[in-house]
Amino acid sequence: MYDEQYRPQLHFSPKENWMNDPNGLVYYKGEYHLFYQYHPHSMVWGPMHWGHAVSKDLLHWEELPIALYPDELGQIFSGSAVVDTQNTSGLKTSDEDVMVAIFTHHGEDNEKQSIAYSNDRGITWVKYAGNPIIPNPGQKDFRDPKVFWHEESEKWVMSLASGDCIRFYGSPNLIDWELLSVFGSEYGAHGGVWECPDLIQLPVEGEDQKKWVLIVSINPGGPNGGSVVQYFVGEFDGVEFVCDDRPEVVKWADFGRDFYAAVTWSNFPEPIWIGWMSNWQYANQVPSEPFRSAMSIPRKLGLRRVDGEFTLVQSPIDLSSLFKKAVVSNETITLRPSEIYQVKLDNRPLFAKANVLNSTASEFLITFRGEQERLEIVFDQKRKEVRIDRRDSGQISFSELFASIDRMPLARLNDFTLILDKTSIELFVNQGNRVMTELFFPLESEFTLDFRALDGEVILENVELRHLES
Ligand code: FRU
Repeated sequence: MYDEQYRPQLHFSPKENWMNDPNGLVYYKGEYHLFYQYHPHSMVWGPMHWGHAVSKDLLHWEELPIALYPDELGQIFSGSAVVDTQNTSGLKTSDEDVMVAIFTHHGEDNEKQSIAYSNDRGITWVKYAGNPIIPNPGQKDFRDPKVFWHEESEKWVMSLASGDCIRFYGSPNLIDWELLSVFGSEYGAHGGVWECPDLIQLPVEGEDQKKWVLIVSINPGGPNGGSVVQYFVGEFDGVEFVCDDRPEVVKWADFGRDFYAAVTWSNFPEPIWIGWMSNWQYANQVPSEPFRSAMSIPRKLGLRRVDGEFTLVQSPIDLSSLFKKAVVSNETITLRPSEIYQVKLDNRPLFAKANVLNSTASEFLITFRGEQERLEIVFDQKRKEVRIDRRDSGQISFSELFASIDRMPLARLNDFTLILDKTSIELFVNQGNRVMTELFFPLESEFTLDFRALDGEVILENVELRHLES
């Protein structure tokens, strides 16, 4: 299975058929559950089910039978899962804690919220007989419930996307819900419908305080087109989310075009999230077979003050157990204007990392080059931006919207980490202050990696280039 041309080697992808958003991310007794929007009968989006995979380390996944099937109330759209340790729902029937999944029933006429429960560690699920638990209030887009236990007010809190706002609901038992407040009409980006919210609390790095972060996917309206994740930083008192920023401020979690619907694992002490690596602009056309789409690398989340602004920072989970084969280790590389530093790569995933000690160059370029094709990353010091150019990256003609140069503002490059799989690149810069995730579909299998500097010098330190263990 891992021999297929476009099969990701590091990233979760279903054995076959269509997948989109991660759903029901929950940790219980050493197992991370990953449910996902799944169409088991086709390679394109269709009646949605919840597919299911489980992992002990977030790196190796076992695909399990489908967890939730469409029914007379509709398809099973996105949602979340929690461990109801106190049995507030009264749905516990075994020695295990009861898990409750909260999801959207998407009917032909409307969207409403429902629950299902599992008393066998998330393997089999029973839909609650009293569904829906939140009927549709007359709102067309009304979906993607993400639930957590709010300690201070001792209740469950749900964030729900409603048009281009987020509604918060509260419940003592996951069954009876009341509307608490609505956020968003004046805040952030509104180029499309809001989807897949998540409300989390994060400690601020180096400070003695925590802030609440509201994550909201939006489609379309991304800075480079199509689907994107935005976030808001503020306070939550158990009723209302109050944003710290001015209403017009827009914060993007990932500037690439292929990171969407990302949400965090529930019931796990550290904040870790995962996103769907695609974009609704072309997701149904990407040329992989016999499956469509993969998830991102799971990423740890933090909050850091960067130039006075609270910034969501991300770092990939530890991948060292996979990337054991060092091609270059702890090297210092000086790039002079006329020289190219070149490394021949195996056709395998690559992990690359370096600190930028000094740069007088106007541009620093990283190119993955085949005979006829290339994927290029440009750190442009003059324009103060990073560009990923995938216009000549292999197969591009499956959608007019795919070939692109995508941009991310960046005043100065201090370090970068790069994860390259068969069809994706995830770029983390400046200790995760800025991130870009992009897909590409190479036709060739042999690659060379070039580092180049234009009009000046770049000194890279602690350069690591690693392949998967053979
Ligand atoms: C986001 C989304 C969700 C919805 C699901 C349907 O990608 O549109 O809002 O629940 O996908 O598959």
